[in-house]
Amino acid sequence: MRRFPSPAFGESNEFRRALEVYLRNWGPIVWRERVGSGDLGANHDLGEVFLALGAIETDSRVISKKVRVAGLERSDIIHEFLIAWMAEEAEHGRIFSELSRRCGVESSAPSRVGIGWLNRTILPILGLLAPRLMRAAYCTQGALQEFVALQTYLYISDRISDPGVRDVVREIARQEARHLRFYKSCANAHLEGSRSVQMIVRIILRIFWAPPGVDLLGEREFVRIATPLLQDEGYLDRLRQLDQFAGNIKGMQDLNLMSSWIARLVQPTQRGLGCSEQPERKRRGIGGTY
Ligand SMILES: [Fe+2]
Ligand SMILES: [Fe+2]
Repeated sequence: MRRFPSPAFGESNEFRRALEVYLRNWGPIVWRERVGSGDLGANHDLGEVFLALGAIETDSRVISKKVRVAGLERSDIIHEFLIAWMAEEAEHGRIFSELSRRCGVESSAPSRVGIGWLNRTILPILGLLAPRLMRAAYCTQGALQEFVALQTYLYISDRISDPGVRDVVREIARQEARHLRFYKSCANAHLEGSRSVQMIVRIILRIFWAPPGVDLLGEREFVRIATPLLQDEGYLDRLRQLDQFAGNIKGMQDLNLMSSWIARLVQPTQRGLGCSEQPERKRRGIGGTY
């Protein structure tokens, strides 16, 4: 039976519209024939990047567990969105895993299944006490992470010579752009008119935000794998646009999340992988991957 948003949960037509726009052309990408079966050359660095991207995309199942544990799925809008979102992200994971094999990388991707006792304890309480805040934080973080995914896939697709593979990666990027639009619309609707919610979300992001994949891989491993990308100023410029993008979300102006992260971790890599001098840090947020 079809469920409609409960007015008691505070979901206006704005959320329903965002969902309808997203669902207009959702659906897992058809890719197997398009990417063919030939190898992509023994590009081990690119293969490792693909392997990590596959792992990060597949980790969306853990993100959805966090969302469920926090009770955010009591929102019919988020519930419906997650069903479609999970199907798309899981397929992204399968695509990148296949592409890593085509680059000659045979190792298995890092993965996790659980969400840890701390999340299982704290998230349900926060979800009950402050549902609007939790949804605002989840959607804001979601929009930011999708933006990073979008920029990463656009950057990578420009450097793939195989036309079939390039088109598939660009199609993944288009799906990330649709995820981004949904999250951004919902984030703005949740943040609108509440300075306190905006302020707390800012604090959460300042403390917990990191690029998607850092929470799965750890910062050091993330930077090691991504070094071929992070050493290119063109990619860094794409990433830095995140700070401008965040400024379009209510109350999130001048956070400078990406600039700060790059200054702290990436700049040393350009002088010779100075990341190893940084303490190993894992960030845990309520949204992550993408
Ligand atoms: Fe994705
Ligand atoms: Fe996504």
